[in-house]
This record gives sequence, C-alpha cells and structure tokens, in this order.
Amino acid sequence: MRAKIIAGNWKMHKTAAEATELIASLIESRNGLDTDVQLIIAVPFVYIADAVKQLANQPNLAVSAQNCHWAGRGAFTGEISAEMLKSMDVEFVIIGHSERRHIFNEDDAMLAKKADRAIENGITPIFCCGELIGDREQNRHFEVIEEQLAKGLFHLKEDILSKCIIAYEPVWAIGTGRTATPEQAQEMHVFIRKLLAGKFSDQLAGKLPILYGGSIKPGNAKALFDMPDIDGGLIGGASLNSEDFTGIAHSI
Ligand code: PGA
Repeated sequence: MRAKIIAGNWKMHKTAAEATELIASLIESRNGLDTDVQLIIAVPFVYIADAVKQLANQPNLAVSAQNCHWAGRGAFTGEISAEMLKSMDVEFVIIGHSERRHIFNEDDAMLAKKADRAIENGITPIFCCGELIGDREQNRHFEVIEEQLAKGLFHLKEDILSKCIIAYEPVWAIGTGRTATPEQAQEMHVFIRKLLAGKFSDQLAGKLPILYGGSIKPGNAKALFDMPDIDGGLIGGASLNSEDFTGIAHSI
C-alpha cells in the first residue's frame, strides 16, 4: 500500500494573519479524514516558523517549503538552504515546480543538486516534472518526463529515491482550469512507474508515491484519485481555501 498524500502549494499567497487563519481552519476542517492520508502544506518561507508551531501536535499535517537552494551555505543573497529548513523542522520541500523551471530558469542540474541537499538534510523532496502543451501536441510528453526524471532524480541510489515523492504536473494544466483527464494522468503515472522499474526495481516502482497536479478541484479530484497509480495531488489554487483543500482530501 502506497502513502496517500494531499499537498497544498500556496505559492506567493496570503498575509501572515491570513496564513494563521487558513491553518487554523484546515485543522478544523480535516476532522473525520482518514488517518492514513498525509496532508502537507507548502507555505511561503516567511511563514514556515509559525506554521511548524501551529501544527506541532497535528499528526499527518506537515509543513513543506516551496523551494531550497542547491548549495549547503554561502554567499547567495536572498536564498534559503535545506540546512536552514531542517533547523526549522521542515519535513518536505517542493523541487522543480514548473514555475521554478520556467520563470526562474532552474535547470535539471540545479534540481538534481537541490534534491541532494534536501536528502542530506533529511527532508523529503516532492520532485515535480511536467511537459509543456507543445510537447504534448508533438507527442513528446513521455520523452520530456523521462529526461526530467533521469537528469533530476535518477542519479540517486534506490534506497534514497524510495524516500522521495514524485509529482506529475503537466504545465498546461497548472492554474489554467484545464486539468489532465484521469486517463491522461494515469497513463503518465504508469509510464513513470515503468521507468522506475526499468532503471531500479519493480519494488521501487510499486512503492514510490506519485502525485498528480494541475487544476485539481473538489469536483474533479475523485475521478483522478480513483485511478490506480495516482496516489494523491499537489494542489495550487484550491489549497488556498480550507474547505476546497480538505474537500479534495476527503475524495481520496
Ligand atoms: P493549480 O496548481 O492547482 O492551481 O493548477 C498546481 C501547482 O502549481 O502545483
């Protein structure tokens, strides 16, 4: 049985007061949720300390960062290291989100180093991959995902990789309201498991959680989560509202 995971990516949203309020209301609205569902909220860096405190006694509701730097420490003005995140008791970090890849030009080599730093510090990477619409139109989507994973993640040893989470997020579905169909998402998740089986082992392929992300809402979540190889979701817009976020979590 693979872990069921619902992760919210707040991106650059919420004031400090709004963040505290949203977390308080998440704690309430997740009542009745199966205890085997892991909820994760990726809050902006500046709210991490407060979020960790607010969630101190909340099982299965963990804090993630949205990014970290690829170096251990150094002269990188404005950046945050995995070591700093560890010192704040952060358990997860999103690596390679399409906004980091495309707006901030993060390449596969940087992302591989970020994954390394996270793991060295005992932080679980939520490693994102996803193709552009043009890639899909040209039927290159499998090739793109294979390349992103091969360069960013598959340098890890199997026992280390087994502690990671992969998120498949087609770029054309992020924030667009246009979600991949459950069949399209399932097809890619199966492809990713085949890659894992081919490069590592069937055991790893069967064990690694693979999340889908891209315009998940309470109304379309169940059909996606009913797919056998979709282990949960990475939720952007709908994670900014506790009812929507926990509504999605209740669909798994
Ligand atoms: P969305 O974002 O749910 O708003 O499409 C998903 C993501 O960026 O992780």
